[in-house]
Amino acid sequence: MKHLLGIEQLSASEIESLVEKAVELKANRGRQTEHPLAGETWAMIFTKSSTRTRVSFEVGLNEFGARPLFLNANDVQLGRGEPIKDTARVLGRMVHGAIIRTFDQEDVVNFADYGKIPTINALTDEEHPCQILADLLTIREKLGGWEGKKVSFFGDGDCNMGRSWAWASKHLGFELCIAAPTEFQPADEFMTRLGNAPVTITDDMSVAAKDCDVLYTDTWVSMGKEEEAGERLKVLAPFQINKDVVATANEGAIVQHCLPAYRGKEITEEILEARQDEIFQQAENRLHAQKAILLALAKSR
Ligand code: CP
Ligand code: NVA
Repeated sequence: MKHLLGIEQLSASEIESLVEKAVELKANRGRQTEHPLAGETWAMIFTKSSTRTRVSFEVGLNEFGARPLFLNANDVQLGRGEPIKDTARVLGRMVHGAIIRTFDQEDVVNFADYGKIPTINALTDEEHPCQILADLLTIREKLGGWEGKKVSFFGDGDCNMGRSWAWASKHLGFELCIAAPTEFQPADEFMTRLGNAPVTITDDMSVAAKDCDVLYTDTWVSMGKEEEAGERLKVLAPFQINKDVVATANEGAIVQHCLPAYRGKEITEEILEARQDEIFQQAENRLHAQKAILLALAKSR
């Protein structure tokens, strides 16, 4: 694995070994004396806001002996129109790896091509692979694994999280049900690209909630979609995770949210607080999963 551009490009065994490495790193945190990235500098180029992704990468890089170099995309010449390929050519000669959060997936792909250093997608409009790997780690911890499980995604099924879940389902073979209103279901072009996968799309909440082991949601207004907020909140309102939805799921089902959460919108305050332990365990797992990603990329250089 030279880069992490999306879940789409990974194989089942790459996903599984990243999750297994994350389990090991989590168990040994604080006891390791090695610094596998000692002396390195990794650039973090962020065009969008972040709490979890930024902090977990900065902490993970520090724990591995590397220095994170946080670059707000608007503060560097990228923000004034310098092309991504020139930015990549410059950074590729100076830093050891790049972690990029932006809008267009092509920017991350181009950075990897031109920079020739390990490049990580820290969220684009297309995918959020780091989040999915942390989510799979949480499912492994809480449910013993994903085999034979049904994951249901409620809300904006056409966002980065919905798409990354669809690729995870295709590669790993677990059932994914996406409950979304027609206008927020995965686009036809995406479903064609996905091909055969155990993914069901529905606008019926009860179909998604029934026999479900993981109830998953994300904001209804992803970064960059703020102008559509009014319409989105109206159309997506029936797709909230609340106590009635949770009551329909399997006994022992977990509630997951990639965060940040908007209480009273995609999830009720009551459910978020009742399930905060499993949701914030998921947030903590960003650190362990991303350390596994950093190690895998460093090894394949
Ligand atoms: N879930 C997630 O990526 O959180 P941040 O936007 O805070 O990084
Ligand atoms: N779909 C959300 C995820 C935030 C972590 C967004 O892109 O804003």
